[in-house]
Amino acid sequence: MDSRTSASDTAKPSVYLETYGCQMNIADSELVTGVLKAAGYANAESPERADVILLNTCAIRDHAEERVLGRLSVLAQFKKRRPEVRIGLLGCMAQHNRAQLIEQAPYLDLVAGPDTYRRLPDLIRTAGFDPAIDLRLDRNETYAGVPSYREGGVRAYVTAMRGCDKFCAFCVVPYVRGRERSVPAESLVREITELAEHGTREVVLLGQTVNAYRDDNVDFGRLLRMVAAIDGIERIRFTSPHPSDMSDSVIDAMASEPKVQPYLHLPVQSGSDRVLAAMDRGYTATEYLELVARLRRAIPGLALSTDIIVGFHGEEETDFDATLELMKRVGYDSAFTFKYSLRQNTRAYKLGDTVDESEKSRRLSAVIALQEAISLERNRTAIGAEYPVLVEGPARRGNGMLAGKTPQFKTAVFPARDGVAAGDTVRVRIESATAHSLIGAQV
Ligand code: 5AD
Ligand code: SF4
Repeated sequence: MDSRTSASDTAKPSVYLETYGCQMNIADSELVTGVLKAAGYANAESPERADVILLNTCAIRDHAEERVLGRLSVLAQFKKRRPEVRIGLLGCMAQHNRAQLIEQAPYLDLVAGPDTYRRLPDLIRTAGFDPAIDLRLDRNETYAGVPSYREGGVRAYVTAMRGCDKFCAFCVVPYVRGRERSVPAESLVREITELAEHGTREVVLLGQTVNAYRDDNVDFGRLLRMVAAIDGIERIRFTSPHPSDMSDSVIDAMASEPKVQPYLHLPVQSGSDRVLAAMDRGYTATEYLELVARLRRAIPGLALSTDIIVGFHGEEETDFDATLELMKRVGYDSAFTFKYSLRQNTRAYKLGDTVDESEKSRRLSAVIALQEAISLERNRTAIGAEYPVLVEGPARRGNGMLAGKTPQFKTAVFPARDGVAAGDTVRVRIESATAHSLIGAQV
């Protein structure tokens, strides 16, 4: 589980919400909390006394779904003790598993897909003897103007576009989140201006293929410039862009707007042309490498991360070697690596698995080990350099240390000085590095 919302107020009916999966889901949970607060619900800190228990779920891999099913059976105990409790499943897994869900988890009172959150208060009210189910996808729903409830903090995640039209052969997202649609630029600027007025310093624009953003004549490059014009916003990031939509307009905005930070998460998935074609990614390894070269020429100090899938249908040893080779060629600062997980409804589903589980595990270990070595080497090059660090608060390891991010989105940890607080940007000189963080001191 990745986050929990919390608040007070005991007189109102209360909702406990747990979130699984990606940043988009965390942002959706903030939206759901906003909708439910407006409808008179209070947040519950724990499920024990909550009137409504909701899980916002992920369907990207089998593992994500299994975790949720396991958690649901634990939460069902609360309903045994208090039958009036309503338990609901939201998000991608709700959309993906519709039919099986009620069989697998008969105590579910409500099942709601990602385009139904405006109707959530009604759904909760009607959930009774029969479960309330709403899985309508709506190609126009952007939730523009629906206020999200955020805990506050230095960084805010703002959904700029929803859905995906790419239909990569392995991926369930286009089926569970529906067609691509962009939040009107004007609405985004209004929301981010308000966030800035309330202390947000960094904004992360979100979308499954965020650089495919388009609102009339506003493309993603133009949107970046519009956000950069907002007073109080110091740093702009976005995730995840698709390599095929990395237009000159976007690269120019990254290169020329100082607020747009030099970090890009650019999912590659594989380094083999054969596998990339089977995945229907829309680029070859050479084209991807050319894009990386173009980005690095335009944006000095650019950090790159990626997503890699090992063991996709038909991936041979030589294909896997090509992935390792590409990782070395690019020299990613970090990578998220996954074993291929067969997903119902996707185009690759009927092809089945050709790489067995133990071989997938072996390949996964190999990419992780390689990436650890590359990350460490990349981070060590930062030793001796100074970076502006946007302070987020006390470091997790505690003992008087503060933590924040460099422009390259690396975690920097350094001893706290009096008067330095979250939201400040300080200069930190890096003294040592691990594969996952930089350690230094303020200058
Ligand atoms: N199996 C494994 N990984 C997947 N991803 C998406 N679908 C699957 C799947 N079926 C990974 C991709 C994507 C990231 C969010 O999740 O790498 O970029
Ligand atoms: Fe899935 Fe491909 Fe769309 Fe990314 S671009 S969400 S991997 S279909």
